[in-house]
Amino acid sequence: MAKTLGQILKSGLNIAVIMDGNGRWALSNSLNVSKGHQKGVQVVRDIVEEAIRQKISSLTLYAFSSENWSRPKAEIDAIKKLVITAVDEQVPELVQQKVKLKFFGRHDDFGSKVLTKIKEAESQTNIPSPSLHLNVALGYGGRQDIVDLTKQIASKVLSKEINAEDINEEMISNYSCVPEDKIDLLIRTGGDKRISNFLLYQIAYAEICFVEKFWPDFDKDDFIDCINNFKKVSRRFGARV
Ligand code: FPP
Repeated sequence: MAKTLGQILKSGLNIAVIMDGNGRWALSNSLNVSKGHQKGVQVVRDIVEEAIRQKISSLTLYAFSSENWSRPKAEIDAIKKLVITAVDEQVPELVQQKVKLKFFGRHDDFGSKVLTKIKEAESQTNIPSPSLHLNVALGYGGRQDIVDLTKQIASKVLSKEINAEDINEEMISNYSCVPEDKIDLLIRTGGDKRISNFLLYQIAYAEICFVEKFWPDFDKDDFIDCINNFKKVSRRFGARV
């Protein structure tokens, strides 16, 4: 059964963010694109702080999509380095804040340095009752995830570990690499009004908040505005109430 707004707010919101506009922000400030991503990480830090203050249950961030592999090698290398420095600099603070960090997506192509770093970060922040679940999509694509989980379930059906009739929504969520089952609010900065292959299954009933500002200009007040607007919206989940 769908939860009421009151129940959702009580259990904590699941918020996802498409942090778009780093490149345009950098260019409009006559900076290299990688400086835009660097500023983007500082904004992540502020939004995590505010998410804890707002008692948000989970924050799921789109850091690198499966499509981003087609970007210039120099930019991809800069993002890889940024992930490593962000983890080194932020993990001690995340531990103090009791934030549980999880990376999801196809990680193999990021190389051993990034892989080791993100595994270390996940084990260091493996906190039993976290203040916030911080999920970072890295090498993630929504359609690829659906293909991958379908293959996994199909092979279990073939080996008779699962009956085809037993496949249900919960099972799809469990086989997905996305840590959250349902997203309540999706925020996209940077002015574009599209989903860009993010969390296709999990945003089925999400409210979507499109923000004109580039991600490096997004601040705590903008984040609070998105949350407050969400709270005003009546959610019917297709029912007549
Ligand atoms: C979109 O802006 C942003 C990205 C593709 C990368 C975002 C990554 C970070 C902020 C690093 C996050 C790292 C951690 C560990 C949280 P864009 O470059 O597509 O902007 P544009 O549309 O203006 O070109």
